[in-house]
Amino acid sequence: MLKISEARPNKRIISKAAHIIRYGGTVIFPTETVYGLGANAFDESAVLKIFKAKSRPKDNPLIVHIADVGWLSRVVEEIPERFEPIFESVWPGPITFVMRKSKSIPDCVTAGLNKVSVRIPSNRIALSLIKASGVPIAAPSANMATRPSPTKAQHIMEEMKGKVDMILDGGQSAYGIESTIVDITSKVPTVLRPGPFTIDELRKILGNVHYQKQNRSTGKPTAPGMKYKHYSPSKPLFLVEKSSMKKIIDFCVKEKIGVVAICSKETSMEINYKNAIILGSESDMYQIARNLFDSFRKLDISDAEVGLIQSFEENGVGAAVMNRINKATGFSKVDETDSFLSLFTKRRK
Ligand code: TXA
Ligand code: MG
Repeated sequence: MLKISEARPNKRIISKAAHIIRYGGTVIFPTETVYGLGANAFDESAVLKIFKAKSRPKDNPLIVHIADVGWLSRVVEEIPERFEPIFESVWPGPITFVMRKSKSIPDCVTAGLNKVSVRIPSNRIALSLIKASGVPIAAPSANMATRPSPTKAQHIMEEMKGKVDMILDGGQSAYGIESTIVDITSKVPTVLRPGPFTIDELRKILGNVHYQKQNRSTGKPTAPGMKYKHYSPSKPLFLVEKSSMKKIIDFCVKEKIGVVAICSKETSMEINYKNAIILGSESDMYQIARNLFDSFRKLDISDAEVGLIQSFEENGVGAAVMNRINKATGFSKVDETDSFLSLFTKRRK
């Protein structure tokens, strides 16, 4: 693991990492969303190392990262003309587009689908690495399957140490949640995963956009990977309405259940409880997003038995935040002490 600065990525480190990618190895690198676990997207045996390192099911496709819009023709069958100006305006950035796949991309990258997802990251370390490698880099988030995506090098050391050839530590991820994914092969572009690039921003540039919120009752996954348990801490975590937080905490204290509250600065002031992990202020949902996955890992290493996370408004990036919270809590929302106790007892067994 090597430290590298985003302001001025060290050329020797980048060229070492690029060498590993070109020769079929794996490198964990920072992006502006979360850390990625990368390999040469054209090299099937290198890509298989990603699945192995993460214990990722083979039916879950990977995102291909490129350095420049000019590289698109190397990974997609056909560049959809009407989207060219859009690519130029949003990339590099936290948005991924799903397009028809080129034959040069091995089937294992797309899990046998005829579509490939592509993104140009804006993090300068990521961009320098892709450029220096000279090949597109397939990279999922650099966590073990089902765990929260890593947003700090320390998260990677917790579970990926010894499983890859190199780790680049570029500090904390700027957004802290994964990119927005939009399928543009259908007539109306469809959001498969909400992310830092918001639905409102998308509608401004794309016009009509489909977005079907994933919920417990339909449960229908929007992207292949969304069917899996995801982003989860190991300890039980429950979603709680802000107004019920105090009541459930008081109950836990009375019953001697060790509990941590994951909440905004504003909520923490209201509940006035010492065992709180503060995500940031509700006036800056990007800050809440940035600290979200770190809070799940903090819950796991705390002494508490259970976490309660508050609910947020689903405006702007709040939609992506709530998508991750819903998946992490398995859509289990509790607002009464009875329902909390019965769900918690079930999880405890
Ligand atoms: O921000 C990000 O997107 C990060 C960084 C590293 O770029 N990457 C990331 O990759 O989050 P991953 O593999 O953890 O999540 C990719 C999601 C999965 O749910 C996968 O099923 C979906 O994208 N996906 C990938 N290729 C797809 C395709 N061809 N069609 C539909 N969904 C696809
Ligand atoms: Mg992931």
